[in-house]
Amino acid sequence: MAGRIPQTFLNELLARTDLVEVIDRRVPLKKAGRNYSACCPFHNEKTPSFSVNPDKQFYYCFGCGASGNALTFLMEYEGQDFVAAVEDLAGQQSMDIPRESGQDDAVYAENQQLFDLMEKVADSYQQNLKKRPLGIKAVEYLKQRGLSGEIAKLYGIGYVPGEWQNLQHLGKDQLKLQEQLVKTGMMIRKDNGHAYDRFRDRIMFPIRNRRGQVLGFGGRVIDQGEPKYLNSPETTLFHKGKELYGIFEMRRKLRDIEQIIIVEGYMDVVALAQYGIYNSVATLGTATTSEHLQTLFRICHTLVFCFDGDRAGRAAALRALNHALPQLKDTREVRLMFLPDGEDPDSMVRAIGMKAFNERVESASTLFDYLIEHLTSQVDMNTFEGPAKLVHLAKPFAQQITDPILLSRFTHKIAELSGLADRQLEESWREDSSSGTKAVANSTQTPSNSNNFEPDRKFQQNQSAFGSTSYEEPPPSHINQQTESRNKAPFRRAIALLLQHPEALPPADMSWLGSIEELGARILLNLIKIIEKNEEVTTAILVENWRGTAEHPHLIKLANQPLYAESENINAELSEIFKRLEKNYLLDQWDSLLEKVRNGSVTAAEKEEMKRLQAELSKQG
Ligand code: GTP
Ligand code: MN
Repeated sequence: MAGRIPQTFLNELLARTDLVEVIDRRVPLKKAGRNYSACCPFHNEKTPSFSVNPDKQFYYCFGCGASGNALTFLMEYEGQDFVAAVEDLAGQQSMDIPRESGQDDAVYAENQQLFDLMEKVADSYQQNLKKRPLGIKAVEYLKQRGLSGEIAKLYGIGYVPGEWQNLQHLGKDQLKLQEQLVKTGMMIRKDNGHAYDRFRDRIMFPIRNRRGQVLGFGGRVIDQGEPKYLNSPETTLFHKGKELYGIFEMRRKLRDIEQIIIVEGYMDVVALAQYGIYNSVATLGTATTSEHLQTLFRICHTLVFCFDGDRAGRAAALRALNHALPQLKDTREVRLMFLPDGEDPDSMVRAIGMKAFNERVESASTLFDYLIEHLTSQVDMNTFEGPAKLVHLAKPFAQQITDPILLSRFTHKIAELSGLADRQLEESWREDSSSGTKAVANSTQTPSNSNNFEPDRKFQQNQSAFGSTSYEEPPPSHINQQTESRNKAPFRRAIALLLQHPEALPPADMSWLGSIEELGARILLNLIKIIEKNEEVTTAILVENWRGTAEHPHLIKLANQPLYAESENINAELSEIFKRLEKNYLLDQWDSLLEKVRNGSVTAAEKEEMKRLQAELSKQG
């Protein structure tokens, strides 16, 4: 595999490409004012909420939030990987793709090698099923569990024999092979340097990413044994909080996915598929994360969580609910489905069949109905205190809801139930100080549920303080709460303005940005560099420079955020913000030097620096 594609080439490629043309060829667009629109190709809808902005060279769907540039579009729409999408666009422009060599290259190339190897491992496991007598036991087990050869093939199910080393035949250079297998978690190296297979004598389920690359495996013992399931560890390829079992197979099998059923186990996904229900995915031995939900909401708008009916199932439902609330929108739906005690989707679908199972899915209660039920069941509304307790219990949930329409609906419902006017309820929630939140969380029934408020509440704080994204990294310890809020909002605003109006960059010396230890400052400085270096810059080009980084999704959000500003005022607003940021920077320096004065550790040079700062600050007014 050749080296990484240079960023400068990607910038150039996007500068020459017309997104409107790229999309229109696949999804016919209609002109709508300055933009173009269509029914969104990424989710089912009857009225168009998919919009393409020719200036930004960016698309955005108001319904499902799908967004990106021409490369993103090709990847999402055509299912191409990044390189294929680049090749596609470059082909259109008759441009040759250069490759660079360097550090990143090596990482990329190694990952490619590891992917190739994992593919071979999966193949080899599958082949084992066909070998006699080696595979007989495994095939018998799969048959006994009701799986057809066709389904086993779709999911790439295989078998690994009980030897300590089952994969030596996959490479010539044994040392290198072993090293790679250790890296992918397929082998474990002992202290004495010897390595042995992690998975032995197990039914093997390959875990694939959205593109079908094998990231790891789940291995089940045949019949009885401990542990029942063994999963690949986290590796450079495999991140459990991100991946979902069955997502690739689902998309390969189904064209239009209207809803996705989220289950717990490999066998659940596979058994449902056996009964013709291909739209299920499983989390990989972890709770459902926000990232999972984001991934799934990009595919369709309705998610149905399937839980066991027991206590653990109820607790899991509350956890899922906590993750889902911040991501819910008016247009998105989450439903919760509970199975009878002792059943899982696998046993259930076998017992009642596809039709009855699907009926259960359809009649699953919505997340909000479940939440209301959960809350009211804890309160005796006939007592005098009942309504007040309900208000109290509902508050932490209300705080998780970010969609204004949903929030007002939830508020209305709780208000109605507790005999208050909506406004009275909002007021009472606001008055209930932040310490109240904790008390509420602790007063709900299960302990596992109160734990879940921690991360989500932090998320919520980020949201209210800094808007809807949270790219913040922890501030250096000397920066206190006050300086923190002094800094974040203007960074975000400046980034949004520059992303959407790179032409408005004011000519000024921005080198001081380089001294600020903050993600926002780094992003801003990089944006400025890219804008200054490239003759033609669009939102699409700027955002492209962050592909594959943690900041990428946040930049996409900022690129779509309504600015509520006239184009001709943007340059002035940016100048204003930069002035403010520079001043904040000086004030921060001042604060930390002042701290040193207070604890007596200030040096003579630092005292000089303070004089300079004071002069500078008074000059700025
Ligand atoms: P079957 O017993 O084969 O029907 O599987 P199941 O899906 O019903 O199993 P279960 O409900 O016990 O587990 C659900 C999921 O939890 C599995 O798919 C695994 O991802 C995970 N899991 C179950 N048992 C273990 C275990 O012993 N170790 C680990 N790491 N994960 C497990
Ligand atoms: Mn089961």
